[in-house]
Amino acid sequence: MAPKEQNLLDNRDERLSSFYHVVARSTDIDDSPTTISILGRDFVFFRRQDKVVAFEDRCPHRGAPLSIGDFCEDYIECGYHGWKFGYEGAAIEIPALGGEGTIPKAARLSSPYSVVEKYGLVFVALEEPKAQIIEIEEFDDPNFDVGYLETFEARQHCAFLADNFLDVAHFPFVHKATFGDGEEKVVGDFEIVEDGTSFTATYEHSFSNREDPLVHTGEHELVQRRRLTYRYVPPFQLTLRIDFLATGGVNTISFFIAPTAERSSRLYSFLVRNDLGGSKLAMGEAVAYEEKIIVEDLAIQEAYNAKGFPLSASGFVNTRADRVTSTFRRKLREALGEDTSDE
Ligand code: FES
Ligand SMILES: [Fe+2]
Repeated sequence: MAPKEQNLLDNRDERLSSFYHVVARSTDIDDSPTTISILGRDFVFFRRQDKVVAFEDRCPHRGAPLSIGDFCEDYIECGYHGWKFGYEGAAIEIPALGGEGTIPKAARLSSPYSVVEKYGLVFVALEEPKAQIIEIEEFDDPNFDVGYLETFEARQHCAFLADNFLDVAHFPFVHKATFGDGEEKVVGDFEIVEDGTSFTATYEHSFSNREDPLVHTGEHELVQRRRLTYRYVPPFQLTLRIDFLATGGVNTISFFIAPTAERSSRLYSFLVRNDLGGSKLAMGEAVAYEEKIIVEDLAIQEAYNAKGFPLSASGFVNTRADRVTSTFRRKLREALGEDTSDE
């Protein structure tokens, strides 16, 4: 079947222009230009007067990458023929014309894009964004510590990675070597609350908390309650908050996936926890453990040779146990402006 008939979403889909995508850690962007691909196109990012600015990495004259030019206080000078552009985008000088010639109207860069810095990450929307950046209240709470994972490059379309993040049925199989061994095979009955094109899925259950030191002293029961809260904001922003109800511990895992090129994604993730007492060592261990889990997931995700992620309900076989990921797929469709009344 041709990809169109299957309604596949690939990482370069134009509709993804109207959403925020993560592009870098804030610390990665300084006053020298950095080229970053989003939706298969190159953009140049740099910091000017403390704000991150982005343009398409292309000079309108002969298409040379702007990033090889000079980024000065008041203008950008293209490295090829020296055209100068003000930061609003318009050309202000074309050296080959001397002082005389008229600068054509079309001699301008793309308008600067909407760039937001949040959670120590940089986000860009190439068109008016249709969704905000996901809220993580714990991030600014002084009782919580933040630990960033390394950035992962994945040979897969973003939607598969988002689907995987929301999926619990794979835990006992893919994560056998880390946390999956004691996990239940039967998927619980998640409560799903939809809010526009976003949703929250919650599930409370019992589990064996072998990491709780008070279990070993007999002060806490081994079998404790845990609440999982998954949140989704389109197209590829996700969090999982784990509340350990007996200890008051909270571990929130964030997941921001950038569509860099066709079947090529970049993954930014950080942990926000209140149960590590500010210990850098403990956070380092928690981050390393989470990275191991992501490596297990990517081994499966990269093994698919997919042209895109099936958006239609008929693209995959769904069971009752796939309600959360089915909701993700439907919300993503809605966010992209598709009619889902056929579902
Ligand atoms: S390509 Fe940029 S000035 Fe000619
Ligand atoms: Fe996983």
